Amino acid sequence: MTIDFQTGIVAEPSSDATFILLNAAPGKEAQLRKALSTAPALIESIQQQFPDTELHAAIGFSCHGWERIMAEAKPAELAPFPSFSGELLSVSDEAHDIVLHIRSMRHDATHTLALKLFQSFADSVTFSQQTNCFKYLDNRDFTGFVDGTENPQGEDRKDVALVGEEDSAHLGGSYLNYMKFTHNLAKWNTVDLKDQEDTYGRTKYDNEEYASADKSVHAHTKRTSLKDDNGNSLEILRHSMPFGDLQEQGLVFASYSRTPSIFDRMLQSMIEGDEDGNVDHLMKYTNATAGSAFFIPSISFLKALA
Ligand code: HEM
Repeated sequence: MTIDFQTGIVAEPSSDATFILLNAAPGKEAQLRKALSTAPALIESIQQQFPDTELHAAIGFSCHGWERIMAEAKPAELAPFPSFSGELLSVSDEAHDIVLHIRSMRHDATHTLALKLFQSFADSVTFSQQTNCFKYLDNRDFTGFVDGTENPQGEDRKDVALVGEEDSAHLGGSYLNYMKFTHNLAKWNTVDLKDQEDTYGRTKYDNEEYASADKSVHAHTKRTSLKDDNGNSLEILRHSMPFGDLQEQGLVFASYSRTPSIFDRMLQSMIEGDEDGNVDHLMKYTNATAGSAFFIPSISFLKALA
């Protein structure tokens, strides 16, 4: 059986992206469902208008939005973004109903699709936030380190990101976790190269992973490389990208996974730390106070919403 899924979930990294957060307008749910059911055809038509730009979209719903908009049973693990509190960071759920994650190799393509989708929803949604992101150098975060290297590759991306038979009503869906981090680059740029590298557990310029024994318990890659009880690596598919203007620079973190519990464990390990309370020292240089958790249903699910 072929599993259909929204292409923005597993497609290769893009050089341009936009993340849009919307709310459902009260009393307009039927109108919104109708617009959502035509979204796949609209996306296809804009993809044809911008060939060779690798234009992709993912449209998703938080548990708050799901309860408002959908009559269908909720995906098994769709829940509010978790709350964690630690010495460097505290986060909680920021409730938005709908996410649009649109990405491509050209900002005009990304922008056109974002605008057309938003216009198609008309007054059935209210606008909450938009963050435009762009590729910085060779896929580096503004801290200067390559981001995304240890992502799953090839067919593994689907295994990691897409819901399977464990929730057959939502086959081909994916759980998206969203966070917007604002960096303190003035502080980061005072840190010497070795300490920056120790903070990640990777080298900066040639992007080599440290040997496990050389990684600090506070290193970002130490805190996020987790294993299950059988020693298998727990994985998510990250599509984080930098955003910035003259006043604020940071990273939109976005990950897709077939269960949000893996992301939750990683974030807990970063913020609350290991059994000895060792937290992720990358969080000394960046801040986020909230996050949002969404489910990206399959294309056939969206089409059936009419
Ligand atoms: C790895 C940056 C937040 C999960 C990395 C790497 C960088 C990075 C540069 C190393 C290269 C690679 O991608 O494999 C950042 C920045 C963040 C951030 C700048 C926020 C400001 C997060 C969050 C999570 C996360 C919130 C999940 C809760 C991971 C994972 C890896 C990773 C799973 C791969 C670890 C490994 O297997 O080596 N991150 N990250 N990151 N990050 Fe983050």
